[in-house]
Amino acid sequence: MTMNFDSIPRDHLPALLRAMPKAELHMHIEGSLEPELIFALAKRNGVVLPYASVEELRAAYAFTDLQSFLDIYYAGASVLLREEDFFDMAMAYFRRAAIDHIVRAELFFDPQTHTERGVPIATVINGLARACETAQRELGVSGALILCFLRHLSEAAAFETLEQALAHREHFIGVGLDSSELGHPPEKFSRVFTRCRELGLHLVAHAGEEGPPAYVWSALDELRVQRIDHGVRSVEDPALMQRLATTRMPLTVCPLSNVKLCVYPTMAQHQLPALLEAGLCATINSDDPAYFGGYLNQNFIETFEALPQLTARHAHRLAANSFEASFAGAKDKLRWARALDAAFAAAVRQGQ
Ligand code: ADE
Ligand code: ZN
Repeated sequence: MTMNFDSIPRDHLPALLRAMPKAELHMHIEGSLEPELIFALAKRNGVVLPYASVEELRAAYAFTDLQSFLDIYYAGASVLLREEDFFDMAMAYFRRAAIDHIVRAELFFDPQTHTERGVPIATVINGLARACETAQRELGVSGALILCFLRHLSEAAAFETLEQALAHREHFIGVGLDSSELGHPPEKFSRVFTRCRELGLHLVAHAGEEGPPAYVWSALDELRVQRIDHGVRSVEDPALMQRLATTRMPLTVCPLSNVKLCVYPTMAQHQLPALLEAGLCATINSDDPAYFGGYLNQNFIETFEALPQLTARHAHRLAANSFEASFAGAKDKLRWARALDAAFAAAVRQGQ
């Protein structure tokens, strides 16, 4: 569809960013645990936290790199014990997602964070799957689950987790790879990803967040992923940028996360504009919104505020990319893309 995006005044952009329908493709559900909910679940389950109050916990959210965040993120997840806890956590996220006009959310979850503490994988998956069904029925948000392997653990542990999860195969659409990136290159998980591909699962992996472009290459060539999570360090490698652009390989970029974890000193230095200019299928996502200062719309607003070269055309492109990159069915994707065009057509009319 050709639209004169230039007639949308810049001061209409924040409202349009908020209202436009969009998909979120990179969100760790354990990273949506707000301090208030962490304390409520700790009380409900009799878990003692190493923080005296919500304020004290929030004050600890001053990260210097990925690992400094992960240490606190795994401690926060220790309050999740029962199916109801996983359900409540995911429903809290879906309610926020509906407010941000997210029509599709593909949620990462880390089963090993829970099974290592003795929580059965059935408890984790059943609670999250029930939330996905409830979100569709009560909020009209389409949800899906992507099981992530923790890359600081072994490939044997990933195989064991996959084996346990296969009893619940109908409840997740794919697998991913997260946790400490440096020192744990994608190829460490080649065999388990091959097995997942044979099982018909969708494949994604974190690469090029803190790790070098070589990790993005190996996620593509060794793991044969369908999306790269983060991938921002790809800008350092022109040949990789060419490969990502020509194959329309999606990058699930998380701007607030990148600033909080010091991948970039400030939002004004974020490389999202360069990724879009090079023709990549980049998307905006919130990663761990309870820890990084904002949910999806906040990511859009702050990114566009700090980077004035981003315009209404980029906003449309980013939302369109989120639908293109999603693993939803073709009919849903077309319906959402049309709703996006309708939102922009209305904004163009309003600006004229
Ligand atoms: N787990 C949760 N958030 C993550 C991130 N940004 N990178 C790697 N692992 C994660
Ligand atoms: Zn992530």
